[in-house]
Amino acid sequence: MKTLGMFLLVIGVLVSLFFITALIKGRPLQVPGPNNLIASDATLSRILYLASLSPSSHNTQLWKVKVHHLSNKVEVAIDADRVLKVSDKNKHEALISLGAYVQTMVSAFKAYGYSTQVYFDENTQLALVSYYKDPALSNDMDLEHAILKRHTDKRKLAPVSFDLKDLLNNFSDIEFCKKGSDSYKIIYDNSMLAVHQLSSDDNYNKELASWMRFSDKEAKAKLDGLCADTLGMEGITKGIFNTLMTEGIATSSVFTRQSEKLYQDQLEHCAGFIYFKNEIESKSALFETGRTLVKLWLFLTEKEISVQPISAVIEVPACKIELKEKLGTNVSLVIRVGKTDNYGSNKLYRRNVADYVQLED
Ligand SMILES: Cc1cc2nc3c(=O)[nH]c(=O)nc-3n(C[C@H](O)[C@H](O)[C@H](O)COP(=O)(O)O)c2cc1C
Repeated sequence: MKTLGMFLLVIGVLVSLFFITALIKGRPLQVPGPNNLIASDATLSRILYLASLSPSSHNTQLWKVKVHHLSNKVEVAIDADRVLKVSDKNKHEALISLGAYVQTMVSAFKAYGYSTQVYFDENTQLALVSYYKDPALSNDMDLEHAILKRHTDKRKLAPVSFDLKDLLNNFSDIEFCKKGSDSYKIIYDNSMLAVHQLSSDDNYNKELASWMRFSDKEAKAKLDGLCADTLGMEGITKGIFNTLMTEGIATSSVFTRQSEKLYQDQLEHCAGFIYFKNEIESKSALFETGRTLVKLWLFLTEKEISVQPISAVIEVPACKIELKEKLGTNVSLVIRVGKTDNYGSNKLYRRNVADYVQLED
């Protein structure tokens, strides 16, 4: 009896210790504030920080930037070391992420009264942004606010009370398909097929796990990839994730089955999908998809409509071909959209600008 009592006491203490540790580990991640890159030009420094808040697949932040501040030009290239070699062999998402970064930068320049011109070179895959202070523009702090607030929402989303098709009239090369429509079902079915195929691929799972950050310490050291906070976890859920999760568990079949279930939930709970059309899938067209993605995302952020890109369907060639046949157009990206009770905020989890921005004359 005494031994059983001791045993239960030890178990009780261990369980309590586990939950206390999980609670401590569940505290929100503290990210470092924006660093001052160019002390003499606070505005340019701010613009480069705002640009860093751009979306990118797996939060790889795969940009390499050179600022020529005497000639008012910024050169942006893809950092090949950060491209997803398994899920993005053809650099499809890398080019979209590059376009997204450039458009976030263009919006940040606009917020500070600068006009820009963007040139993208199909051969070198280099983007060039020229900027000048435009006396016709005044500062637009609402736009800055939208850049700071925009984020990927992995929660269940609800339908919107108005017609999203009407709202999106001004955007070309996109199509909204409402939940329940034929096009919605085509995208839903192919996305489920794609995610099942991807989660059965060891190399895909290993690559995804290598971009996951399993503790705040690792997250703070790397400042990229997907950490508990950006995966939408908080409190005890985050604590348990950070206490128990390892790369081994993240690649196990139990975890990948759970992820498929979560994916299904996300696809089912939304107002609908928006797909991006690209008749000719050139590098420039993918770069433009990234630019349209951010323009649209910032517009929806101002309306507090949540967005989550769902790229599995474009990562599996057979599913992408099926989409093209059934929707009658080549699709470069799909996002799901919808409402929540509170829009939420960006976790501002980003690399230091100084780590990838080079200052030239
Ligand atoms: C091309 C592209 C593909 C993406 N694919 C997915 C996806 O399949 N699922 C998802 O949850 N987020 C996806 N994202 C969102 C990124 O994970 C997200 O932008 C990044 O983690 C930074 O987080 P933030 O958008 O909240 O700032 C994608 C983003 C881009 C640009």
